Amino acid sequence: MNDNKKAISTDSLLTENRTFPPSSEVKQRALINAEKYKEMYERSVNDSDGFWLEQASTMDWMKEPTVACKYTWDTQNRKIEHTWFEDGQLNISYNCLDRHLEGPLRNKPALVWQGEDDEETRTLTYAELHVEVCKFANVLKAKGIQKGDRVCIYMPMVLELPIAMLACARIGAIHSIVFGGFSADAIADRVNDSDCKLLITANVSLRAGKQIPLKEISDQALSHTPSIEKVLVVKRTDDPCEMLDGRDFWCHEEMEKVNAECPAEPMNAENPLFILYTSGSTGKPKGVVHTTGGYLLHVSLTHKYIFDIHDDDVYWCGADIGWVTGHSYIVYGPLANGSTSVIFEGVPTYPDAGRFWQIIQKYKVTVFYTAPTAIRALLRLGDEWPKKYDLSSLRILGTVGEPINPKAWMWYYKAIGQENCPIVDTWWQTETGGVLITPLPGAHTLKPGSASRPFFGVEPMILRDDYTVCNANEGGKLCIKKPWPGMMRTTWGDHDRFIDTYFSMFIDLYFTGDGCRQDSDGDYWLMGRVDDVVNVSGHRIGTAEVESALVSHDKVAEAAVAPMPHDVKGQALYAFVTLVEGVEEAKPLKKELILHVRKEIGPIAAPDKIQFAPALPKTRSGKIMRRILGKIAEDAIDQIGDTTTLAGPSVVDALVDGRKK
Ligand code: PRX
Repeated sequence: MNDNKKAISTDSLLTENRTFPPSSEVKQRALINAEKYKEMYERSVNDSDGFWLEQASTMDWMKEPTVACKYTWDTQNRKIEHTWFEDGQLNISYNCLDRHLEGPLRNKPALVWQGEDDEETRTLTYAELHVEVCKFANVLKAKGIQKGDRVCIYMPMVLELPIAMLACARIGAIHSIVFGGFSADAIADRVNDSDCKLLITANVSLRAGKQIPLKEISDQALSHTPSIEKVLVVKRTDDPCEMLDGRDFWCHEEMEKVNAECPAEPMNAENPLFILYTSGSTGKPKGVVHTTGGYLLHVSLTHKYIFDIHDDDVYWCGADIGWVTGHSYIVYGPLANGSTSVIFEGVPTYPDAGRFWQIIQKYKVTVFYTAPTAIRALLRLGDEWPKKYDLSSLRILGTVGEPINPKAWMWYYKAIGQENCPIVDTWWQTETGGVLITPLPGAHTLKPGSASRPFFGVEPMILRDDYTVCNANEGGKLCIKKPWPGMMRTTWGDHDRFIDTYFSMFIDLYFTGDGCRQDSDGDYWLMGRVDDVVNVSGHRIGTAEVESALVSHDKVAEAAVAPMPHDVKGQALYAFVTLVEGVEEAKPLKKELILHVRKEIGPIAAPDKIQFAPALPKTRSGKIMRRILGKIAEDAIDQIGDTTTLAGPSVVDALVDGRKK
């Protein structure tokens, strides 16, 4: 690599050579094999309209579309617009429910709910879910909600949450879900940004044996949300909560007053389905807007092919519905495909670290989808937990949310998948609506840490800052060349922000914000957010690679790397390291870890400082907050700023204290 390139791309230093081709058993069962993937992918980019119109015919339309994608991506004239199936009409709740009622799916479990308490379970068949959704939709109508109105949902992981979503979709209301762990201020900001008219919440939610007073938190928000007219409250437990006369209503009482007849509203394919707020590193949260037709097709097609869904699968995505993963791959994708989708109210480590594996055994889960952060947390607690349970029902494993380092991948593959289950490492974003880069189980040879290949219709580009295309194995910025069906359309109420955020770094291209390289076989390797690049003596080093090298050491469970100022190098690497349970935080181990990184990657990537960390600061969705770690590494403690969105704010104090050691 010449020096010029070094200045504009990211050095990729890690190599991982293990490969896992699909077994003959996986290939035999798979919906898509290597040839079929190639043929379909080529058609999806060369005859995009033909491909997508054909795929769209797998959905039930009230009016069939005659056009697929129409778009203009012209950054200079500030015109960024794309539509999918714009003359088509359909309803998502109809596609997820009604169309399954005529045949054998009618009495198939649609949603299987597992409460935090193992005794508490509830299953709804497609027919039963349909009744609940129609009634809920009638409750919404009775409370004055009409097509186009915004409804905020702030709920625990109970069945009323997907029911409320589908009820909104049925009548054309736009839902905006606020994750049930957020604060009153977070609710108020989001409600006010999109002028929600109604709030759906619960009296309490249960989390690791504790109760969170959702209604009380909502009430604090409601004193600052003038647009909210009515509040529906789900009774999760018998605990009382305050109810304001004329504004607040118990859901179960309202459900008794309505009938179960509610025809699905014909929606234009481009009508908004939901808003989901995503917080960038700065500024107020962005309301990511997703629409109806393209989104539904994208999530159902990706769900079907990536998880290789067959009729008898029991599919479980362990995310929270408050995040996009839950929207797309607990609710809309699986239900559109007539699958059985498991919903779990609790957390992976309560009442003990075997909870996930116990649920897999209990429901004979065949497809399991979770985040690397959960995998690393469970890996840290040892093999004895998964060993206690029968995991032989599993066929396919998935991950999403962060780069998965090879050590965690291998543990997932061996300890959980028992070397029989392909792992689909799915790369996507709230903005993308559904998965864009992923292996397909029967088609691709897996490499631990690689997200493999683009899904149908997706054309990724890895660019240097000067717009030229990176060579094989040269890290650059990941962009997407053309719209895909599930892509966000705008940021709610602020189209300029949408253009500035995603289309100004590289004109006329969607910039993902992620670093990436493509290896010489054509497989994609995500390298973390480009903001997480540290410039050590002119080498741009992606923190994800150094973290992965640290985690590959036996004694390390998790690591996060941040830049710190350095007189000579400009920036140096400061590593926060969480050790495997039971390992002592001894000084010689720091040296050993530095040597380990030198060996794995090279001297250039060796951290200058290592701090042992009992835990790392994470968002509620499990992403490490590197901005905070950067401030600690810089010793700019006064600039740490707001930590209220952290899963455990006290972690920061412990790290600030630990810095002095
Ligand atoms: O940096 C990428 C990382 O998560 C970001 C998107 O986060 P969010 O909008 O919260 O959505 C998470 C669930 C889709 C991406 O820009 N990311 C997500 N999946 C992967 C990933 N990084 C590496 N590998 C993945 N499989």
